[in-house]
Amino acid sequence: MGAFGEGFAPFYSHGRHHDPSAVGQNQAFIRTIARGGAAPKMSSESYNEILPVYDAKTVSSFDKYKKIHAASIADPSKYWGDLAKADLDWMVPFDDTKVLQGDLTKGDVRWFAGGKLNVAYNALDRHDPDALALIWEGDEPNDIRKLTFGEMSNKVSQIANALKAKGVKKGDVVTIYMPMIPELAMTMLACAKIGAVHSVVFAGFSAEALASRIQAAKSEVLITADHGLRGGKNIALKYIVDQAMEHITDKDLVKNVLVWGREYKEGSSEAPYQMKPKDVRMDPLVADQRPYCAPEPMDAEDNLFILYTSGSTGMPKGLVHTTGGYALYAKHTTKTTFDLAPGDIFACVADCGWITGHSYVVYGPLLNGATTFMFESTPVYPDEGRYWDMIQRHKITQFYTAPTAIRLLMRYGDEPPSKYDLSSLKVLGSVGEPINPEAWRWYYEIVGRSECTVVDTYWQTETGGHIVTNLPGVTPMKPGSCTLPFYGVDAVVLDPATGHIVEPDATGRVEGVMAVRQPWPGMARTCLGDHARYMTVYLKPYPGYYFTGDSVQRDEEGNHFITGRVDDVINVSGHRIGTAEVESALVAHPGIAQAAVVGKPHDIKGQAICAFVMLRNGYEESDDLIQELRLSVRSEVGSFCSPDMIIVTPSLPMTRSGKIMRRILRKIVAGETDTLGDTSTLADPSIVDTLIDKVGISD
Ligand code: WT7
Repeated sequence: MGAFGEGFAPFYSHGRHHDPSAVGQNQAFIRTIARGGAAPKMSSESYNEILPVYDAKTVSSFDKYKKIHAASIADPSKYWGDLAKADLDWMVPFDDTKVLQGDLTKGDVRWFAGGKLNVAYNALDRHDPDALALIWEGDEPNDIRKLTFGEMSNKVSQIANALKAKGVKKGDVVTIYMPMIPELAMTMLACAKIGAVHSVVFAGFSAEALASRIQAAKSEVLITADHGLRGGKNIALKYIVDQAMEHITDKDLVKNVLVWGREYKEGSSEAPYQMKPKDVRMDPLVADQRPYCAPEPMDAEDNLFILYTSGSTGMPKGLVHTTGGYALYAKHTTKTTFDLAPGDIFACVADCGWITGHSYVVYGPLLNGATTFMFESTPVYPDEGRYWDMIQRHKITQFYTAPTAIRLLMRYGDEPPSKYDLSSLKVLGSVGEPINPEAWRWYYEIVGRSECTVVDTYWQTETGGHIVTNLPGVTPMKPGSCTLPFYGVDAVVLDPATGHIVEPDATGRVEGVMAVRQPWPGMARTCLGDHARYMTVYLKPYPGYYFTGDSVQRDEEGNHFITGRVDDVINVSGHRIGTAEVESALVAHPGIAQAAVVGKPHDIKGQAICAFVMLRNGYEESDDLIQELRLSVRSEVGSFCSPDMIIVTPSLPMTRSGKIMRRILRKIVAGETDTLGDTSTLADPSIVDTLIDKVGISD
């Protein structure tokens, strides 16, 4: 069997021949969306001018999509059961009559339960050992490493054995706080090999944020590296880890801190950092291990990993992804959405600290036997041609990034991408937030030379993989729309008030909240240690449905336009920012009585973080105070959450029952003061004018 298995027969072509002439004709619409964040409301005039882009060949495949999608919804057990058998190697087969059990109402979903498999085995050991598995480019463009499946498999086994030697067992949570180096991917896979549950914490989070995630997961092992590099700057990860250890209240919780040495030279006895009693140098420990470790047979429903995601209230949620369903979903979405073919060099430039890195840097491409490209640096280091240079040098075939990066690079004009040979590209992906049609066009025309399919992939940490996206050569592209549901995803639009499915109006359009009516294999199963919260947030708001938290509009052709979050979650540069975490960092300052954080439209980042703070008696507004507040957010959460704007206010818009009306703050920072809505329920309606003045001055 080839590297791509016998899986799903690709009936589609490489979607290279789209007609670009119809793209983006409505400049007014484009400009409105280009101002940042969510798309404006559809209006029949503006909307119809953006036409679907597809050719005759696509249309015939499009009919096939419709048939297969309908069949996958009508009989999900058949659709996913067949794929699971073809696409994954099972140690113990699952019961054909029990592919899917449980349902969304009860919240007891399981896929392939009873079947046993190992994800690391499927991602590495089963493939041609001589094929290229991973190309890594470090912060400096000449810092390149290439690993075959065989090399990765051996090293992952060594790491797995090192973890075992340190007492890590199946089911233990291993926290990983690492830079984007190959050892990060291999450490994740080593956990999977022995059945340990990895919890990757993005290396931009602060010591405090890391400590709280370690404690919440009761994680006894922490794996880090001495330092990371980004844009020529050294990030002292080990130093941050040392501080995190200070913050952990249960001093006996963490038993081992395993530290990779970035510049480790074999045999060197000196650690390039301060060794603490619990520290273990990872490189010599790993080098001592046998390069074979038997894969742990895991039940399809055993936990594979947890990933914390921040929200608008409370502690971040540790979402749990399980083994069989997640692996199948990551594999199938990667293959289908990106039209993966043997020999492809697949580049997702996300960080493994987020779900995009889990599904589309590590698991999805490797499960397919494709070569995954892993990137440590930024889009503008050493200059704004970095992505294009890499595409040329490594002959990248699929390139996957976020609208924020595209908007940033667009600012440098058409010249940088035009200087490079980008003809290896076939598919360009977008993820993290709605892509405004102006950025879409630039991506399509300038980067893709109007020859590549742009896939706008809508999904979430909770969904494991894409749930709404166009498919290259199969379904039409539509700038600004993530278009149609993925196979097996029964997407519905619900009326937020009644919870019923919205019936199309006379024009065939609907508007409401985005939900899914049937379980799919990649969905998160629970929140670690808090199933009640999982139910409350995702499954109880609309019984019988998975609730995404996003509002959506769907056009008469069934294309979805995500219009923003219905909760208070902010999306900055494609990352979900925990307003609750930022607010609690602000309130941690002794001078702050209360804080409210909202998103403000931002040209490049989509949204910027805007904080309103009320001072305690005895404190006065000053530059120093604002600096201290920024510092507080940096140290409690991470510098990527530092507010763009901090406004000191005598009070906040509150209801009489004391609830902050963030809706009003959002409108004020967006300058939409003529559509504030009903302010009569405010305890003190006069605060609105004060805030409008304050925001106006600081703008
Ligand atoms: C939220 C999920 C999924 C990986 C990156 C973010 C927004 C994501 C799109 C898209 C419109 C999108 C949604 C979603 N979002 N992709 N293609 N179009 N919105 O993962 O941190 O879990 O955030 O990102 O609001 O709910 P995340």
